[in-house]
Order: sequence, then C-alpha cells, then structure tokens
Amino acid sequence: MFVTFEGLDGSGKSTQARLLAEALAAEGRDVVATREPGGTEVGELIRELLLGPRNVAPWAEAALFAAARGQLVEEVIAPALARGADVVCDRYIDSSLAYQGIARGLGVDRVLELNVNAISGILPDRTYLLVVDAEEAARRRGDPGDRIEREEDGFRQRVAEAYQELAAAFPQRIVTIDGTRPAGEIGREVLDELRQHS
Ligand code: TMP
Repeated sequence: MFVTFEGLDGSGKSTQARLLAEALAAEGRDVVATREPGGTEVGELIRELLLGPRNVAPWAEAALFAAARGQLVEEVIAPALARGADVVCDRYIDSSLAYQGIARGLGVDRVLELNVNAISGILPDRTYLLVVDAEEAARRRGDPGDRIEREEDGFRQRVAEAYQELAAAFPQRIVTIDGTRPAGEIGREVLDELRQHS
C-alpha cells in the first residue's frame, strides 16, 4: 500500500503519518515512512532551496518540487513498493496540485503533466486529507512558517479550498478527515478506514 497524508502545515498530517507508520510496523509489516520535499539527500538540498529565504519563481518552484519528488520515487518509494513494503508519505503530488496548481494558479493539469513523468506514474492507493481551517492551522503551528506558508493570509485559504477541490475530483482516492479532533482518535479512524479499503 502506498498511503499519503495531505493538508495545511499545522493540520496534524505529519503526526498522523507517523502514527500510521508506527501502527503498521507494530503489526509486523515492512513500512517505509518518508516526507516531501526531502526524504533523500538531493531532496533535502532541494527542500532547503525551496523553503529558504530566496525568491523562487512559480514554475521554478513547481519544477523543484517535482525534481525532489522524482528523486524520492526513484530512490525510496518505487524500490519499497517493489519489495512489497508499505509506504507512508507526508505530502506527495496533491501538495503540488493544491499549492502550485490551484493556489499559485499554474493550473492543475499543467502541474500534473509536469509531475507525471517524474513519479513514473506512481500514485497513492489512499490519501488522507486532514482538514482544519486556515486560521486554526496557523494558530497550531505557532511560528510564521516556511517561505510558502508565510504568503499572505489569502494564500493559505486558497490552499485549503484547493484541497477540497481535489478531494471532490478524486473521491475514490482522497479521504477527507476532520483534523480538529484528538490525534489518537483520528489515528484510529485512519487505520479503520485503511483496513476497510485494503
Ligand atoms: P512541510 O512543512 O509539510 O514539509 O511542507 C513544506 C512546505 O512546502 C509547505 O509550505 C507546503 C509546501 N509544498 C508545496 O508548496 N508544494 C509541494 O509539492 C510540497 C510537497 C510542499
């Protein structure tokens, strides 16, 4: 199974990715947990470039996210799936569709096209979208966030709406989860949902 978690920074997606990976490992399954952008040496370098203080043009930003993703697929995700492991990834292609495709206005189809070769067509089996509103996410995060999260308030709101659009467009794959509840409760819901699906 290839499972991804999506949502705003502060939505709790990283906690949920960790909880799911731990729960699957506790069942004795071979689990690979990773994150985007990053998860490889090249990917972590690209992450620094993307989230650091420099101004990155919108298409350069989309291409760099796709480059980090391509590296992660080649080095980590594809080999893990090929040997039968489960892969749990904190963010994946939907982040680019939401942030770059919709919120930045580059277009979902064009950003998808940019990514499809980089990921060798490997899409998640299941994607959990943690939903909290933009103000709540910012409050929970506590700090001003990375370069992308520091965009004006309207940007985070656009990302939140973008995720809802994606969930409506891919209802068989993206499961919307109310992220305002306690982490343990959400974790059990995710695990139950995944069991029903697999
Ligand atoms: P993270 O803090 O969840 O690791 O995410 C890093 C930041 O990068 C976050 O602000 C969301 C943004 N991002 C994109 O804009 N597009 C992408 O494709 C990915 C993976 C992340």
